[in-house]
Amino acid sequence: MPNIGFGVFRMTDQAECEEAVVQAIQAGYRLIDTAAAYENEEAVGRAIKRCGISREDLFITTKLWITDTSYEKAKEGFYRSLKRLGLDYIDLYLIHQPYNDYYGAWRALEELYEEGKIRAIGVDNFTQDRLADFIFFNKIKPAINMIECNVFFQREDERQYLNQQNIVMQAWSPLAAGQGNLFTNPLLCEIAGAHNKSVAQIILRWIVQRGIVPVVKSSNPTRMKENLDIFDFTLTENEMKKIATLDTGHSYAMSRDTGDAVTDFLEKSSLYRV
Ligand SMILES: NC(=O)c1ccc[n+]([C@@H]2O[C@H](COP(=O)([O-])OP(=O)(O)OC[C@H]3O[C@@H](n4cnc5c(N)ncnc54)[C@H](OP(=O)(O)O)[C@@H]3O)[C@@H](O)[C@H]2O)c1
Repeated sequence: MPNIGFGVFRMTDQAECEEAVVQAIQAGYRLIDTAAAYENEEAVGRAIKRCGISREDLFITTKLWITDTSYEKAKEGFYRSLKRLGLDYIDLYLIHQPYNDYYGAWRALEELYEEGKIRAIGVDNFTQDRLADFIFFNKIKPAINMIECNVFFQREDERQYLNQQNIVMQAWSPLAAGQGNLFTNPLLCEIAGAHNKSVAQIILRWIVQRGIVPVVKSSNPTRMKENLDIFDFTLTENEMKKIATLDTGHSYAMSRDTGDAVTDFLEKSSLYRV
């Protein structure tokens, strides 16, 4: 799996998404991260056809949505995604959210994996307790857990647990979706100045140095390239420690720690056209 990916969440304008994916691949990204719930798999599929890079050199991730998360519906959901993407296999297929019958869905994914339709299967947004239970009661261990991770929500406990379990941690919203005055943060600006890099590059480098795979979004070709240009410098131990002080310990994007918040999320997100 490539050590950085390009994500297309919120790119619901199909032409814009297709163009952004072509530009991202031309900029050098090889991992493209979409999902049934992003409603842009067809646009991603068109970009894959147009981009001039052969299929085997690309790494395509898509995700099973909650309304299809059951043994009965998972294969249907998978084949719908495959068709929209115009592909005959998926590199990484994730259970998008730990809701509904994700044990049943996993059994369907295990079968697709064994048939060679999916190269790797994993999960998304699983907390440590759910994951520990899931690993214990399943045949195949998830290859990946994709979770929110950025300087404000660093997830060091999760990182250590996933490392210990030999599960790759992927970071979504690595730039905190551009929130929290991230790009003018004084500490990050100071470190960026010391390396002659941008704040975004410092953050992405900090994620990669922690052994995590960031999946970053940009609609701007200059920023797409900038975000890839993070492999020619190293943050010092002291800089890593200073960045660790920015952790707030809570999510910027999700607060689903009460039953009401989960119900609200499930009600809204069951309406997606997956
Ligand atoms: N699995 C999940 O549950 C889940 C949830 C959320 C996201 N994701 C995945 O993770 C991907 C990334 O997360 P995200 O889209 O929430 O946010 P993100 O990558 O953290 O941040 C994207 C924002 O940062 C801006 N940006 C990007 N590069 C920049 C740079 N070099 N300098 C300044 N601004 C920059 C972008 O603006 P411009 O576009 O204008 O550059 C955009 O507003 C998603 O696209 C999706 O694939 C997965």
